[in-house]
This record gives sequence, structure tokens and C-alpha cells, in this order.
Amino acid sequence: MYKIAVAGTGYVGLVAGVCFAEKGHQVTCVDIDSNKVEMMKAGTSPIFEANLEELMQKNYAEGRLNYTIDYQSAYEDADVIFIGVGTPELPDGSANLSYIATVARQIAESVIKDCLVVVKSTVPVGTNDKVEQFIQDFLVNDVRIEVASNPEFLAQGSAVHDTLYAERVIIGTESSWAKNILMDIYESFNLPIVSVNRRSAEMIKYASNDFLALKISYMNDIANLCELVGADIQEVAKGMSFDERIGSKFLNAGIGYGGSCFPKDTKALDYIAEQNGYELKTIKAAIDINNEQKTILYKKARNRLITFNGLKVAVLGLTFKPGTDDLREAPSLANIPMLLDQGAEIFAYDPVGRENFEKVYPEGENANGLIRYVESPKEALDNANVCFIFTEWGEVKSLQPSDYKTFMRTPLVFDGRNIYSVKDMEANNVEYHSIGREATKRVIRESNKNGLQTT
Ligand code: UDX
Repeated sequence: MYKIAVAGTGYVGLVAGVCFAEKGHQVTCVDIDSNKVEMMKAGTSPIFEANLEELMQKNYAEGRLNYTIDYQSAYEDADVIFIGVGTPELPDGSANLSYIATVARQIAESVIKDCLVVVKSTVPVGTNDKVEQFIQDFLVNDVRIEVASNPEFLAQGSAVHDTLYAERVIIGTESSWAKNILMDIYESFNLPIVSVNRRSAEMIKYASNDFLALKISYMNDIANLCELVGADIQEVAKGMSFDERIGSKFLNAGIGYGGSCFPKDTKALDYIAEQNGYELKTIKAAIDINNEQKTILYKKARNRLITFNGLKVAVLGLTFKPGTDDLREAPSLANIPMLLDQGAEIFAYDPVGRENFEKVYPEGENANGLIRYVESPKEALDNANVCFIFTEWGEVKSLQPSDYKTFMRTPLVFDGRNIYSVKDMEANNVEYHSIGREATKRVIRESNKNGLQTT
């Protein structure tokens, strides 16, 4: 068993640390935020993630997992240090490596024995070489330090599961010493290990994430065409999915991908290509399509309604996907400012994203409109003129088509996640617009028409 330190307790670092402890290693997670460290020691996870808190509490109680702000004590006699700090996007699309550089310097100044440094953060190809050089330059003691790449493929909401039961572990090393240590650490995980050189490992991460982003943008592109030619994207995706070369996953058209990875990693790879004098046309297209896709329903709704001024707008879902409280690059953030500018009165529901959203849009008047947060999807629908579905939470999916008819003032729904069958919505006389499928119209009954004429 190894003595492991993990730098950074975000999704990547904390989940990795907890999973290594679960597999019997002695782990210390390092963060600069002392409040966060105290919180984790008390058994509370700083992120909303299935099963994470239970494993944190168990491994802390059993003495295999600890948290500290004292990086020196964590790094000095570690066998392996994993770096899992953020690489946020800079305005030019490149990855900000300053957090990694800070950790590298702290490692160089702290270590007193041979140590393998493993970069888990997503970094541009060649960064591991630079980190190794950087650590060598600042190294205080005469010890062996090598850097390896071990990119992370976890998805938010299933991060623990994705780490413990990963489809593959990528290790990028430049020596058998480094390779053997990583093979050893992962032995008890019993997962397929792909051992490559460092630069390939760095590239595998971007190429994988960007391929998935491309797949989603491709389906969104086809979905938009489906609407124009009268085809149904869900039927098309089903037909495609039987071809094993295409596969059945990530074929869901919607209002674009969000989150902390796809938007950032597509821009970063585009930037890397540009820096190398190459134009990555596929990824540029994926980025463009995604940007347009996020507000495609807003534009449809605006054409349909002329204005949102004074309308009660139900918003179901704020996070970029279900199972997380993360709002990064969420479609809601692209749409809500426009609705507020237009004077909409928004009633928003999200089972876990509310707190984070309220930090950006506090309850009450905002721009020309207002926003209120409600406790249930039905409360959001109550007396609404129009409804937008941005996230396919189970709580939202459990609404029946008839609920839109029953609770809304006018059953007009713009569904960015294709939750409902068009036929069911039509049968319930709900005007339903979704992605890549035919829109339904509401039938104005004769009695209503007469009623309207007389009033
Ligand atoms: C992703 C990758 O899945 C993971 O392997 C990588 O390490 C980090 O990036 P994550 O961002 O947590 O994980 O979420 P994911 O479930 O992949 O969804 C990303 C976005 O794509 C979401 O906004 C989701 O709504 C969207 N999506 C996904 C679609 O629009 N259609 C799909 O078919 C699948």
C-alpha cells in the first residue's frame, strides 16, 4: 500500500483520494481552504456526489483518509502525489495552469524522498514535461522525482462509480519505475489499464472528451435538420444505435452540452491546434453548434409569444445535467438572463441547483423581470403561461403530460431534453415544442372559441 497525497479537493482530487483510500492506500487530501478542510474532517462533502460522503466518513473513521492545508507535511514523505487542481479556461480558450504550477513548486520545496508526481488534471499536451522540468528546477532535496499522466474520465453525478469501475485507466509514463508504481496502485481496482507515453495520455483525455462533445453536437445538428424535413431525432437515434460502431450512448439531442469539461476541453483543444498552426475544423463546428443550440428553444418561444413581458414562465431544471448541483455552462444560464431582460416572471424549480443559482440570480426583481424559486415542479407550473424544461431531473420527468394541462394557464411547453412523447402531449392538448421532433399545436375547441368570441 502506498502513502498518497492528493492536491486539490474538487471533483477530480477528492473523488480520487477517497477511492484510493477505499482501496486501502493511506491518503492525505490537501486544499488551501481551511474551512473546506474542517468541513471534510467533519464528514461533509463540499460537492454533491452520490456515495461520496459515505465513503469519506468511512475511510476517515478507519484512519486511511485525512485532510489538511499543511501541504508540506502531506508531500514530504509521500510515495505518490496526485495533482487534481483545476485548469479553468482563460479568455483566449487556453487552460490556466497557474494552480498546477503552484502545486508543482510546493512539491519541489517539500519532498524529502523519491516520489512520483501524477497529473490527473486535464492539461495541454506537453504540460507534464514542463511540470517535471519545473519541479526539477525548484527541487530542494536530492531525490528522484518523475511526473506521470493519469487523466480522469469521471462524470459528475456518478463520479465515485466511474472511478471505482472505470472502463479504462490511462497511465502515461516515461520510465518503468513510474509505470510500475501506477500499475501497482491500480492493481486492486482490477480495471483495464492502457499504458502509453505521457503526451499520448494527455491527448487521450482531450480526444475522448471532445469526441463525446462532437457526438452530441452532431446529433443536435441532425436534430435541427430532422425538424425541417419532418423526421424524428429519437427514432433516428434509435435506428443508428443498433450499429455497434456508432453505439447507443451520447446520441441524445437536446439544448447543448454544459458542465466543467466539454465546453472547456473543446476550446482548449481548438486553442492547442491553433498554437500548432493547425485548424481543428470538427471541434470548431462542435463548439459553434453547441453555442447556438443552448438558446434554440428560447428563440422558438420568442417567435411564438412575441414577448415574455409580464408572462409567468415556469423553468424546470437549472443545473447542466441531473445528479449534480453544478451550474457551469448550464443552458439555464444562457436563457434566464434573456427571459429576465424581456420582463418575464420566472418561477424556477431545481431539486439541488437552487442554492448555487440564487448566488447568481437572487430571488426577487432582476433586470426587467423577476425570479422566484419554488419547491416543486407543480408549483412552478401553477398558472404559468409557458414552461421551459432545461434539465431532465427525475422530479421533472415524473410530471405527467396531463399535469401541464391541469396546472398551467396555457399549456405551452418548450422541452430541451425531449422528456415526453410528442403523441402523449398532443393527446393531452399541450402545445409541445422539443428538439428534432415535430411540434404539436393545441386544439382550440369550438366551445372555447365560442367562449372567446362572446367575452
Ligand atoms: C463529461 C464526461 O462524460 C466525462 O467522461 C469527463 O471526464 C468529464 O466530462 P460530465 O461533464 O460530468 O462528464 O457530464 P456528461 O454526463 O458527460 O454530460 C455532459 C453534457 O452533455 C451535459 O450537459 C449533458 O446534458 C450533455 N449530453 C450528454 C447531451 O446533451 N446528450 C447526450 O446524449 C449526453
